[in-house]
Amino acid sequence: MVNIAVLGYGTVGSGVVEVINTNHDIVNKRAGQEINVKRVLDLRKFPGDPVENILTHDFEDILNDDDISVVVEVMGGVEPAYTFVKKCLLAGKSVATSNKELVAVHGPELIKIAREGNINFFFEASAGGGIPVIRPLNTSITADDVTEITGILNGTTNYILTKMDKEGADYATVLKQAQELGYAERNPEADVEGGDACRKIAILTSLVYGKNLDYNRIHMEGITRITTDDFKYADKMGYSVKLVGTTRKTDGKLYSYVAPVMLPHDNPLAKIDDVYNGILVHGNALDDVMFYGKGAGKLPTASAVVSDVIDAVKNAGRHVPIIWEDEELEMGTFADSES
Ligand code: HSE
Repeated sequence: MVNIAVLGYGTVGSGVVEVINTNHDIVNKRAGQEINVKRVLDLRKFPGDPVENILTHDFEDILNDDDISVVVEVMGGVEPAYTFVKKCLLAGKSVATSNKELVAVHGPELIKIAREGNINFFFEASAGGGIPVIRPLNTSITADDVTEITGILNGTTNYILTKMDKEGADYATVLKQAQELGYAERNPEADVEGGDACRKIAILTSLVYGKNLDYNRIHMEGITRITTDDFKYADKMGYSVKLVGTTRKTDGKLYSYVAPVMLPHDNPLAKIDDVYNGILVHGNALDDVMFYGKGAGKLPTASAVVSDVIDAVKNAGRHVPIIWEDEELEMGTFADSES
């Protein structure tokens, strides 16, 4: 039996416990042993919830428990998640996280600590929610010169845009729905202003090119100024409006942006609606590959996190390499592209 702990019992954390419990036979078989959630850290109390008996408010209870070998971090935000994750890794515990802020800001450092400790730091759910995209980019698309990654990377905004487009719904009402459905960030500004998509395209780009792309350097525009009229005009011209994150190689230089764009109706990304995300990768040998699935929500995101836990258990005592050096990725500027 392997003991794990879950840091944060919100939407994703409760989903992680649910997936482990509901799918226990499958999960345990895949992991090769029983996975037991020994501790859950949360500052709140959950009277009547089955986790009530294993709940702690003190992170040290988890850090100092040598029986816990894998920790799930699903608190969100950089702090205290960064401090907790770093301490867990330095104590020899593998970590699985869905926290894109943490991965975008501290990914290379945490991967390095995991490498040096012969443990693992996995983050499949940090981009594309439940879609397996991190692992394929790290282990399957490794022979190509990748010339483009374009993704609908935020479920909340794709849900909002779809409802505005197809149902003429009002922006504020659908944003509230997205929050109620557990898609939006605690502060939904990160969704609607494009910050969440920026972090995700930065993570995907860093993985593809093996060096760090600081998300602060990505040109960013959100969806707050889009009106229902924009969809009508775009549709008449044969286009859909989608918020995308793109990194493209032009004349040997990389350019990244997050912005709402008009995609022709026959572009595969134009057909992706609601909370679904899609990531299109173009390689010089591979041509186009597309990843598609639910980009947000409790169970899809939890599914990706639990898969990471299974991978961490299967690879106990062995570090699975992730190439993401703490060296700045060279990017073109828009001035380069105009010259
Ligand atoms: N708020 C995020 C989204 C959650 O809507 O995509 C998943 O990262």
